[in-house]
Amino acid sequence: MSTATAIAHPNIALVKYWGKRDSDINLPATGSLSMTLDIFPTTTTVTVDDAAVADVLVYGGEERVDGPAERVTRFLDLVRELAGSDRRARVETVNTVPSAAGLASSASGFAALAVAASAAYGLELDTPALSRLARRGSGSASRSVIPGFAIWHAGDDDASSFAEHIDAPDLAMVVAMVEKGQKAVSSREAMRRTILTSPFYPAWVSSTAESLESAAEACRAGDVERLGRITEVNALRMHALIQSCDPPIRYLNPTSTEIFDRVVALRDAGVGAWATADAGPNVVVLTRPDDVPAVTAALAGVAELAVAAPGPAASLVTRTQG
Ligand code: DP6
Repeated sequence: MSTATAIAHPNIALVKYWGKRDSDINLPATGSLSMTLDIFPTTTTVTVDDAAVADVLVYGGEERVDGPAERVTRFLDLVRELAGSDRRARVETVNTVPSAAGLASSASGFAALAVAASAAYGLELDTPALSRLARRGSGSASRSVIPGFAIWHAGDDDASSFAEHIDAPDLAMVVAMVEKGQKAVSSREAMRRTILTSPFYPAWVSSTAESLESAAEACRAGDVERLGRITEVNALRMHALIQSCDPPIRYLNPTSTEIFDRVVALRDAGVGAWATADAGPNVVVLTRPDDVPAVTAALAGVAELAVAAPGPAASLVTRTQG
C-alpha cells in the first residue's frame, strides 16, 4: 500500500473563468487570474490498495457513492493512466470550505487530490504538470496548485493550459459568507447553459481576454486601484452573463447586493475595496491589508466574515511508499 496526504487551499478569481472551449479536458475559453487563500484548507489522503476492487471516497466522514465519487474515480483514472497502474484507491478528504456555496471547494479539493494521488501512484510531476492534472478535475483547481496570485493560461491544448505564479501587490480578501448551503445550479451546468443560450457569451469571452491582460499589467505595476476596478467589473459582467441564460440563473441574492453596495460606499469614503463573487451568493472583498479593519467594520452584521491573505501552494504533507 502507498499513501500520500496533501493540503490545498481555495482560490478566488479576480478575472473569472466562465466557459469551456473543450469540456472533456477543461480547456477554458479565456485565461483567468486568482489569489490562493491561506484559509479553508482541504486535506486529502490517497491510499493505493492492491487488494481493493473499487475506489472508495470518504468525504465528511462518510463513504460516498454518488456524483462526487464518480468524479473522483474519473480523476483517478487519469492518474492511473499516467502511472501505468490499474490499482484502486481509497480517498479520504476533509474540507473546511463550506462546500458548493461558491467558495471554490472543488478548486482546493482537486488541487489536493492531484498532489496526493500523483504521489501515491509514484508519479513525479512538476508544478505545470500538477496544475494541468488538477485542471482536469475542476478548471479552477489548476490555480490552487500555485501560491499567492496565479494566472491560468487558457492555452490551446492540454499541454499549454496550466497556471503559474504572478507577482502582485500586497493584498488581502475579506470573505463574506452569505449562505453556506448547496447552490441550486452547479457552475459546470451553468457554464454549459451560458454557452448554449446567452447572446452575450462572445462579448464576455473577448472582454475577459482584455481584462486579463490589463489585470496582469496592473499586477506587474503594483497598481492596486486598477486591479481592484478590473476585479469588480469582471465579476459583475460574469453575473450579468449568467443572468442572461435561458432559463436564467441568479447566484447573487439581496444580501450579496447589499454587500456590493456597502463596498461602493466604502470607496466613496476613500477606502480601496472591490467586491467579487463566484457561482454563489458569497461575496469576497479585495483590499489592502491595512484596510481590512475598515472593510470588516463596514460589513459587520451582514454576513459571517473571514479574512484571508495570499496562501501557499498545494503541497504534500506525507508520503509512504509500500
Ligand atoms: C465562478 O472550476 O468549479 O468560480 O471546471 O466545471 O469544475 P469546472 O468549474 P469550476 O468553475 C469556477 C467558476 C468560478 C470562476 C473562477 O473560479 O474563475
